[in-house]
Amino acid sequence: MKLKEKISIEEFDSKHFQIKEIEHITTNHKKAVVTHYLHNIKNGVGKHYKQEALKYINQIVEYKQQEENSSIVAEPDAMQQLLFEVEDVAFPTPEKTKFTFIDLFAGIGGFRIAMQNLGGKCVFTSEWDEQAQKTYRANFGEVPFGDITKEETKNFIPDGFDIICGGFPCQAFSIAGKRGGFEDTRGTLFFDVAEIIKRKRPKAIFLENVKGLRNHNGGRTLETILNVLRNDLDYFVPEPQIVNAKNFGVPQQRERIYIVGFRKDLGITEFEYAEPTNTEVRFIDIREEEVVPTKYYLSTQYLQTLINHKERHANKGNGFGYAIIPDDGIANAIVVGGMGRERNLVIDNRITDFNPTTHIKGTVNREGIRKMTPKEWKRLQGYPEDYYFPVADASAYKQLGNSVAVPAIQATANQIIKLLEKYHGIKSK
Ligand SMILES: C[S@@+](CC[C@H](N)C(=O)[O-])C[C@H]1O[C@@H](n2cnc3c(N)ncnc32)[C@H](O)[C@@H]1O
Repeated sequence: MKLKEKISIEEFDSKHFQIKEIEHITTNHKKAVVTHYLHNIKNGVGKHYKQEALKYINQIVEYKQQEENSSIVAEPDAMQQLLFEVEDVAFPTPEKTKFTFIDLFAGIGGFRIAMQNLGGKCVFTSEWDEQAQKTYRANFGEVPFGDITKEETKNFIPDGFDIICGGFPCQAFSIAGKRGGFEDTRGTLFFDVAEIIKRKRPKAIFLENVKGLRNHNGGRTLETILNVLRNDLDYFVPEPQIVNAKNFGVPQQRERIYIVGFRKDLGITEFEYAEPTNTEVRFIDIREEEVVPTKYYLSTQYLQTLINHKERHANKGNGFGYAIIPDDGIANAIVVGGMGRERNLVIDNRITDFNPTTHIKGTVNREGIRKMTPKEWKRLQGYPEDYYFPVADASAYKQLGNSVAVPAIQATANQIIKLLEKYHGIKSK
């Protein structure tokens, strides 16, 4: 007897299966709908995705039965297998949850980890970058929906969630009048955030952005954002706060602006940002031992190029160039591009297997100067040790550089949750 055919979320990508498709819905949406359904099957939100999800699951079961002539995967089996697959991840939905949230511009889920740690249930997520989606799915079992600017994507957002989270990319608005309003933000990603808030009226808002948002376009961008949230959307929004990750237990200088808001009918009129924990953490505390020299050590030539560049720019005072972080120091902000990796070099003189005769000349430098590893970047952002990257190093660096420092996000989120509990916005457990 043939073994029962296995079914996996991966198969919604199958070329054959797509040929049979007649609907104008992207493959990503199929995987997103099915995984969102399976994740919410036990709560009320499941019904929001149910019809579409069952349609796709039935289609793939039928396809496998007819085209592949496989030993039959019956629908209940398929469902069980898929359910097992989405829950068999490092960060599944917590058993007991006390509030719901949506994860926009989700990246690799920095907000999600923090919110889940506080008892949150994610009911919708959007991230269009395929590599980031891959990492997200590997850790949370859920495939994010794609482009949030598309109405088709927004239509999948369920009603009644408690908190909207997101680190939206910062863009300038073309403001006609003195103070920008809702319509002036049209065509930007903030407009989409505002549009979702307008339609869904979540109890709280938690937005994150680069520190530069404060002075972007002479301060008008932030002023417009606050005006839209406070006056057009009628939320209580305290003064945004610049929060430095290094004050929350990770050895990284990372200043970000946090914008928090509460729906006015909840009666919340004051908010206190989290007090720094000021836990002393240094690079040595997160340093990875046993680093592969040929992968992370700079080549002699490249090191020389960096030294030459720095010397040439030495008197210009523009801070250009590499930086070596001592063991007892803390890292500069990890960023994508802009010498993000070179500004965080370390000296690893414990190199043991350097052998000039076996290493091709110039492959690695003798001084043991190397980039920080993706694992070190993961620790700099306060991600749990079992958070996993199923992608190439280059993608992992990019994803981490774009991400948030989880402990700093969690500390602020905790303040939001406490206030919502106090004002009965959510039930405390
Ligand atoms: C600054 S990153 C946010 C990272 C995230 N907070 C995390 O913890 O990893 C912004 C993300 O928004 C995504 N993005 C930009 N435009 C988008 C769009 N129109 N729809 C969906 N995602 C988008 C980018 O791919 C990027 O991953």
